[in-house]
Amino acid sequence: MTPSQATKRVNELSKLLEYHNYQYYVLANSEMTDQDFDKLMQELIDLEKRFPDLASEDSPTQKVGGQLQKEFPTVKHKYPMLSLGNTYSEEELLDFDKRVIKLAGRSTVEYYCELKLDGVAIGLTYRNGTLVQAVTRGDGNAGDDVTPNAKTIKKIPIHLKGNGYLDKFEIRGEVIMHRSGFDNLNAQRKKDGEPVFMNPRNTTSGTLKMLDTATVAKRPLDCFLYQVMGDKLPFKSHMEALKTAEKWGLQITEHAEICKNINSVLNYIQKWEKKRNKLGYDIDGIVIKVNDFAIQQELGFTAKSPRWAIAYKYAPQSISTKLLEVTYQVGRTGAVTPVANLEPVELGGTIVKRASLHNANIMEDLDIHLDDEVYVEKGGEIIPKITGVELKSRKRNTRPVKFISRCPECNEPLVTNEADAITYCVNEWKCPAQIKGRMEHFTSRNAMNIDSLGKETLEMLYDQGIVKNIGDIYELKKEEILPLNRMAEKSANRLLEGIENSKNIPFEKVLFALGIRMVGETVAKKLALHFGSIEKIAAASVEELTALHEIGESIAKNVTQYFAQLQNKKIIDKLGVHGVKLKVDKDSLTVKKSDKLAGLNIVISGVFKNFDRSGLKKTIEENGGNLTSSITGKTDYIVAGDNMGPAKLEKAKALKIKLLNEDEFLEMIK
Ligand code: IVH
Repeated sequence: MTPSQATKRVNELSKLLEYHNYQYYVLANSEMTDQDFDKLMQELIDLEKRFPDLASEDSPTQKVGGQLQKEFPTVKHKYPMLSLGNTYSEEELLDFDKRVIKLAGRSTVEYYCELKLDGVAIGLTYRNGTLVQAVTRGDGNAGDDVTPNAKTIKKIPIHLKGNGYLDKFEIRGEVIMHRSGFDNLNAQRKKDGEPVFMNPRNTTSGTLKMLDTATVAKRPLDCFLYQVMGDKLPFKSHMEALKTAEKWGLQITEHAEICKNINSVLNYIQKWEKKRNKLGYDIDGIVIKVNDFAIQQELGFTAKSPRWAIAYKYAPQSISTKLLEVTYQVGRTGAVTPVANLEPVELGGTIVKRASLHNANIMEDLDIHLDDEVYVEKGGEIIPKITGVELKSRKRNTRPVKFISRCPECNEPLVTNEADAITYCVNEWKCPAQIKGRMEHFTSRNAMNIDSLGKETLEMLYDQGIVKNIGDIYELKKEEILPLNRMAEKSANRLLEGIENSKNIPFEKVLFALGIRMVGETVAKKLALHFGSIEKIAAASVEELTALHEIGESIAKNVTQYFAQLQNKKIIDKLGVHGVKLKVDKDSLTVKKSDKLAGLNIVISGVFKNFDRSGLKKTIEENGGNLTSSITGKTDYIVAGDNMGPAKLEKAKALKIKLLNEDEFLEMIK
């Protein structure tokens, strides 16, 4: 083979392998068998050995063995990712302008104003027009290399347009999620019985950090860029740099404007404060940058931020509307939360109808009356809050809202805990809201993980008197399930299978699933590991419990109170009779070794060389994985040994679930 033939073949192979990698890992679509893929890869490896000049850094042979990334490599930023000084007032902004003018020694300075996007910062490095790296901010000095995830974002080009681009440069910007995409995503999650996300920013951040690139590809992320970095950039101004980047096919921040002086900056700020709700994505302020690169250089940096830029932050959004009614929600622990029902009003791009009033004390302090004009504010939370009352517009003869004295669900008297100002319904065993809430918690993903038994089904089962507590779940019969609304043979089977599978859930999770107040996942694990069985925990005194590191008196009291109740003992007995794990499984529960498989649902199938089945199960659990026995749409991986059943194989293929052989599995937890 001549060098020129080799060059041609290396290019062909690289393109082909890249394409199939993308199909497989990003789109979860395999158009080629693994063997054929490996053959092509081997051919490329051999060619690169024979012709070392042809081996490039971004060759498919250099990418993590064509496998999913196990964790993100940390990459040091070539230029630290700094932050911006913040201001909240015009005065401070005028001071900034004065400082800039003085340091620059001019009479006025031109500014470039941009929207301050509320997303996640990212730095993209392009070499010879190709995206080679995408890194998050991290601690400012080093961040996570999330290149595979960034490549799934349509607005981040993998190859630049035209040819005038710099050989190597970095461009920084913000990854965001539009509000419409966020709402659709949450609507789908609600339908699937999955918990909804808080806000677009957190969802973006969580998504970028996912190891499962295929899921990232399905999330509606977008990216706007705002800063070109590089040594000796051939541009005179920030605007020129961005406009040039735009010509290369990069999406730069929208609605930016040159402002000739600080007064026009103030106008820009006011204009966007009014219009920000129409944008379709969240901004939390405006970034004001000195446009001229020469002046930027003169001004330089402080340790944390550039002297040539500043962020003007908008105040949290607030609006007034009419209070129609106060209703009360009862959670699984019996805590009663007051909720203000409002005349619908638009705030920050969404229609607000409800807002939290937190607790009786806060409600009293606000001295809220029905029909009052109230102020609603949106922070980072999903539920907006009431921050005040407009006393001037209060009508005569309105009544103050008094916190209810009886539970809205079961009509029993309520009790307020002075320490935390939380009001509780103490009718633990009869209040439907609490019982249903506890059952929902019991079946939830991090607890018993019975995803086939969602909120609606539980509600029907409870309302019809079929399931009265979590113990009854294990006595459900098919003929009781089938008549339920929207139940069919298949879904009923799936439901029963889910219940059956939950008997493999390790004891520490069962303990968490019981929903003992203040016993979260970490505390449950600690108790399970220390005491080893539910019997021992139930017999432990407050002193024995508090002897454990990080178990305080309140937790200990909640635990002893829980086990002192006869009803709880009966439920636990029932769980035990049906085979739910109530003690540490000597082979299955050992100390946690890693979180490498955290949140992944894994099925094992076939016969293995290095493991017996229980050993393999143990290893999966030790590394944080969720073992499930049947393949469903929620399965993330199947660890496949020899002789995997044909039906399972078929199903795995249909659902495009990734099969791992033993070696790949070992690699994954390495
Ligand atoms: S320029 C030296 N422009 O705000 C930092 N930042 O507090 C230069 N941000 O980390 C950043 N929109 O994540 C710049 N149009 C914009 C921005 C923006 C959002 C974020 C960015 C940065 C943070 C600074």
